Amino acid sequence: MKISFVGSGYVGQVNAAGAAHYGHEVILVDIDPKKVDSLNKGIPTIFEKGLEGLLQELVLKKKTLRATLDLQQAVHATDISLICVGTPDKGGMIDLSYIQQVAKGIGEALKTKENYHVVVVKSTVVPGTSLNTVNVLLEQYSGKKAGIDFGLCMNPEFLREGVAVEDSIHPDSIVLGTQDEKTKKIMREMYAWAEESKFTYVGITAAEAIKYAKNSFLATKITFANEWANFCDAAGIDAKEVLEAIGADRRISPMFLRNGPGYGGSCFPKDVNAIVHAGQVRHSPFRILEEVVAVNHTQYLHLIDLAQEKMGSIARRKVGILGLSFKPETDDTRESPALRIISYLVSQGCEIKAYCPQGMEMAKEMLEERRITEVNYMNSAEECIKDAELVLIPTDWAEFKEIIPKITVPTFIGHRSLVNPDDYAHVYALGYPKR
Ligand code: UGA
Repeated sequence: MKISFVGSGYVGQVNAAGAAHYGHEVILVDIDPKKVDSLNKGIPTIFEKGLEGLLQELVLKKKTLRATLDLQQAVHATDISLICVGTPDKGGMIDLSYIQQVAKGIGEALKTKENYHVVVVKSTVVPGTSLNTVNVLLEQYSGKKAGIDFGLCMNPEFLREGVAVEDSIHPDSIVLGTQDEKTKKIMREMYAWAEESKFTYVGITAAEAIKYAKNSFLATKITFANEWANFCDAAGIDAKEVLEAIGADRRISPMFLRNGPGYGGSCFPKDVNAIVHAGQVRHSPFRILEEVVAVNHTQYLHLIDLAQEKMGSIARRKVGILGLSFKPETDDTRESPALRIISYLVSQGCEIKAYCPQGMEMAKEMLEERRITEVNYMNSAEECIKDAELVLIPTDWAEFKEIIPKITVPTFIGHRSLVNPDDYAHVYALGYPKR
């Protein structure tokens, strides 16, 4: 099939590569000429394992993927357009301005298009948006009717950063929200390579809700693990023993039950905020989720408290921070607990050296936006820990396992999966009150 992905961010680039990998002819659309240029050279504009190799093959060798600035032409040249633009957080609410812009553009293109075209909302949008905002604009600008002249589908995104290429090629589940059989059939054809058991067919608004229900459930599960770990610290219990034991119960599962300095990233924080707001607007508040937001907001402080408990005040100390991205294997530092920790330490007059295998550039940019310019960004973990009086490791990049035995000062880790603190006298971890 011929497919266009509108918005060449993280979701657009990975999904476009996935679709072209399965033999579709794909066009990526963006308003940024630099992005389009880079993509046409087969160079991704984000760091994601396996993406560069895939783009090189699809763009340069097979020539089944290309990028363009021309939305109208892309809609005319394809059978399906997937809207993949961002829906950022704007003061706790969802910002739909990019979605609206794209819906108008696609609507205008549909006006002069003869063949049936399916428009798919891939971006995460609060329940009601696809019908009340996207479809209204599509119909208004095209002068056509959804379900008759063109198709509308909501197909939420479940990719995890860091393993997104793998997730896109081997998805766990595919949710298709449609309101007419023809659109459903075309969408099933787009995913012809996937087994039937992976599919959930629902209405458009339910598909939107499924995305939020999943992300907010997972954020709640992590927060549950974090509060239990905090309690275990206070009660002298090893949290790992408790969390692993409850995770072994098949009804609970060990997934997303790893305690740490709080969830971050471009999805969970934004999505939980947005659905909390949607609940308030509809007078059906999500009281649990309101607390999840509040608890997660201060969870990073537990790592700092642990350091203060073991070392006394850490004000004005020399601190090495290893790991800036919100999780390993990504360059994304949005809502990263590491940045919250740095902001706090700067306010305490600490001298900070930081290192991250991928997240340095974005971290520097984001911290400088907050006028935090005192951080020294180092080229290696070794340089980062040199002369430090203490080391904090908020993000569990596997490569830090090698540096931990070389550290001689107290080291505080956010995630127990990194190393077993039993093995190192200088290592302290959240949820581990033994030492
Ligand atoms: C999340 C979802 O997992 C994806 O399914 C979804 O598509 C995506 O959001 C999205 O909405 O686009 P992602 O943000 O890439 O994916 O990252 P996760 O791997 O889910 O981790 C989120 C945060 O939770 C990270 O800060 C991670 O360190 C933290 N986490 C995760 C824990 O603290 N403990 C855990 O057990 C698991």
